[in-house]
Amino acid sequence: MSTSQVPAVAPVSSSSSHPSTIAPPDHHLTRRDATRSPRPVDLIVVAHPVPVPRRPVPLTPLHLQIRTTDKSGNVINTVGFQRFGFDCEVSLDLLRSLYLRPHYVITAASNQDTEQEETEHAKFTGNYAAYQSKSIFHPDSHSISYTTLSRFPPVKLLPPSERKRILVTGGAGFVGSHLVDRLMLLGHEVTVLDNFFTGSKTTVSHWIGHPNFEMVRHDVVEPFMIECDQIYHLACPASPPHYQFNAVKTIKTSFMGTLNMLGLAKRTKARFLITSTSEVYGDPEVHPQHEDYWGHVNPIGPRACYDEGKRVAETLTYGFHRQDGVDVRVARIFNTYVNPFDGRVVSNFIVQALRGEDMTVYGDGKQTRSFQYIHDLIDGLIALMNSDETRPVNIGNGDEFTIGQFAELVRDIVEKVQREDGVPAPRRVDIVYKPMPTDDPQKRRPDTTRAKTVLDWEPRWTVRMGLEEMVRYYKAKMIEGSL
Ligand SMILES: NC(=O)c1ccc[n+]([C@@H]2O[C@H](COP(=O)([O-])OP(=O)(O)OC[C@H]3O[C@@H](n4cnc5c(N)ncnc54)[C@H](O)[C@@H]3O)[C@@H](O)[C@H]2O)c1
Repeated sequence: MSTSQVPAVAPVSSSSSHPSTIAPPDHHLTRRDATRSPRPVDLIVVAHPVPVPRRPVPLTPLHLQIRTTDKSGNVINTVGFQRFGFDCEVSLDLLRSLYLRPHYVITAASNQDTEQEETEHAKFTGNYAAYQSKSIFHPDSHSISYTTLSRFPPVKLLPPSERKRILVTGGAGFVGSHLVDRLMLLGHEVTVLDNFFTGSKTTVSHWIGHPNFEMVRHDVVEPFMIECDQIYHLACPASPPHYQFNAVKTIKTSFMGTLNMLGLAKRTKARFLITSTSEVYGDPEVHPQHEDYWGHVNPIGPRACYDEGKRVAETLTYGFHRQDGVDVRVARIFNTYVNPFDGRVVSNFIVQALRGEDMTVYGDGKQTRSFQYIHDLIDGLIALMNSDETRPVNIGNGDEFTIGQFAELVRDIVEKVQREDGVPAPRRVDIVYKPMPTDDPQKRRPDTTRAKTVLDWEPRWTVRMGLEEMVRYYKAKMIEGSL
């Protein structure tokens, strides 16, 4: 079976990578799957768009090839940690089998050779093939069939005293779905509440049907009642094109959504963690930013719906804490790299470089950013939730790059991955400079002393390692035809 049989799709316009492009979120894709199929079912035949020829991308057992080392050069085999009296370590390979694979992994052999299908499938899922649903492309009829899961990935068996009922709002989004994977593997009972504005059911579809898992379509601006022990409140669009798409709704989600979830925490005595953001520091006059800095935010600019929304959400959180004794945790998350279609700098660079397009830097490229990898963020969120720290805590990677340097790093890594996969780029893409969008901060770097001191947390993933995995993940999206 060859990769030339992978379904071809019409290329997506490069304009989608412009940070100020505002497109309806329905046209954006989430972490694992671009399809809007509500869930895997036995056999669905879908009409396929008119095929547009594209260069074949080789299928290789991506996640099995990657040797990931941490900042000290040690190989990373697990994520999570054993701390504060609990064990929250899970196998990296098992996690990767959930996200680092194309969704459409198999092209059906003309003779319906199921053994060959199984082999193709196992390339991406390693030892965990039995726990995966399959999506099989049939080139003869231009259709796709899906299988349902018959088994779930193995989760820890916790005694009832340790098993928590955890509500994750925004659990179908990028950060949320990674958090859900981790909490499920750790053996907790997880309820995802999401309105699927920017998230998609497919990001957590591999858990649907599991006795520890529930999914609720609900908008957090409306009250919601459930019994729970912990609430991770993530629901809020996070990338500028998404939150600027409907600024009023964004601030409503930040305020009303947080109010509702804090009310729920008060009633159930659940511990409440909100994912705030480094944007609360605005365009900072202090560098790096520590938690006691009050910020420098434009309250009327195009980003204000998000920045001020998160600030007021923090105010509400501490209001409930002081007035009603709600047990709160506030994570100020710095840039985390992300979905192919989120419109932020990392995804723009990777997508452009993989497509062989010139990479666009907005401004002179001297503005700095620091990027953390998703596994470090999830480690930080779980550590914070289970710590005693009620003050805000920065969670981010302090390795600072200028955007110009970052563009070069992405270009090098994309070229390396393409070489390793035996399809070197026909030409070196150029880096082009365009005017800076409004209110884009010049400098952003976390001071993570508090996280290190109180959570014993530090980022383990180097920017290079995280980027390399992201590039492979985006390539997987290309293989399946969704990018
Ligand atoms: N990714 C980052 O770099 C970053 C940085 C700072 C803070 N954060 C915060 O982390 C959280 C998750 O970010 P993400 O990158 O996963 O974004 P995302 O857009 O992928 O996920 C947000 C999720 O919230 C859901 N949602 C939005 N509005 C909702 C509503 N009214 N009711 C119910 N669900 C709703 C969306 O459908 C989506 O599933 C957000 O609170 C964001 O502000 C993220």
